[in-house]
Amino acid sequence: MFDLQNIRSQFPILTQKVNNKPLVYLDNAATSQKPISVLQSWERYYSEINANVHRGIHTLSQLATEQMELSRRKIQKFINAKNDFEVIFTKGTTEGINLIAFSLTTMIQENDEILISYLEHHSNIVPWQMLCERTGAKLKVIPMDENGVLQLDFLDENLSEKTKIISLNQVSNALGVINPIEEIIAKTRAKSDAIIVIDGAQSVPHFKIDVQQMDCDFFVFSGHKMYAPMGTGILYGKEEILRKIQPFHGGGEMIATCSFEKTTYADLPFKFEAGTPNVGGNIALGAAVDFIESIGHEHIQTHEKALLDYAQKKLLQIEGLKIYGEKAARTGVISFNLEGIGIASDVGMILDKLGIAVRTGHHCTQPIMEYFKIAGTVRASFAVYNTFGEIDILTEGVKKAQRMLG
Ligand code: ALA
Repeated sequence: MFDLQNIRSQFPILTQKVNNKPLVYLDNAATSQKPISVLQSWERYYSEINANVHRGIHTLSQLATEQMELSRRKIQKFINAKNDFEVIFTKGTTEGINLIAFSLTTMIQENDEILISYLEHHSNIVPWQMLCERTGAKLKVIPMDENGVLQLDFLDENLSEKTKIISLNQVSNALGVINPIEEIIAKTRAKSDAIIVIDGAQSVPHFKIDVQQMDCDFFVFSGHKMYAPMGTGILYGKEEILRKIQPFHGGGEMIATCSFEKTTYADLPFKFEAGTPNVGGNIALGAAVDFIESIGHEHIQTHEKALLDYAQKKLLQIEGLKIYGEKAARTGVISFNLEGIGIASDVGMILDKLGIAVRTGHHCTQPIMEYFKIAGTVRASFAVYNTFGEIDILTEGVKKAQRMLG
């Protein structure tokens, strides 16, 4: 059974006041709040274990290793990876994409093509531009329409043997648009041998992920948007490709042997985990998986869909309010502006005074803003603990901002 009050009671931060008003936290696409179980897992590691992993013979080091590896296996099951060593701990989505872009360098040549889409976060644009600069490859961008829907006929015209990488988000952080990943992957497989990279930063908190069924080569996401601590993240890669590509960071933990003449690399996953990892964070990421599974993906999806539909209905009753991507299939996000109010942050500041946390600006997606010829939007984004009452408060807050600024 889905018990919203019980879920909320697991998030102590939600009971506090901000600017003397009860906090209405609607900035979950930037980062979600953390339940007590995750906070306790992190605290327990630092107060009872705190030792480095994979290095020590002593008891605490072994405990730390066991718990971090248990967390890796939880994440393996969570995304249905075939092997636990295909799950690499990173510090977040951005690091994951940079790792892939760097590690693929030697496999890319001049005039090869890398496909991304108009809907990408800067973290899924810039690392590929840098790879193009290093190799002479070309970046191509799948266009979108005025609803934020990707134009897939571009794929029919542009996929070819030259396409070496395609990297897309599953859900847009700026608009919440859900991309037809399955269709895109099928088209890509049919016409090229491209390596397929999926940015799951904004989908993992909302959907059940099955990387084997999806048939992507890489899948990356952050922990902090799925109720885990900041500085945690996962890179999933298919075994075959992980074995083929070069490591990203060199250093301790990632070697098999090291001499001044030659270094050989450790086996998976350690080849990609140089240096001391975020052990406490990685263990707490496992606790976040337990939290999500204790509610169940179906319940999460149903509740969040109801929230989105309700918010859309309520906000659209405000005259002059435009939602970007209104007609597209979406999850978790409503991105909007008020007619005649050019600066989204003015609205955000008024909402903040009312205790309502939203993000304003370009959301690290300047190409989307350029497409709509705007500087930014007001973005309300939802998590499993949000309520319909909070959406009512948001709606009244937006009306107030309109009265004050209009
Ligand atoms: N990428 C995060 C966001 O969309 C930070 O807010």
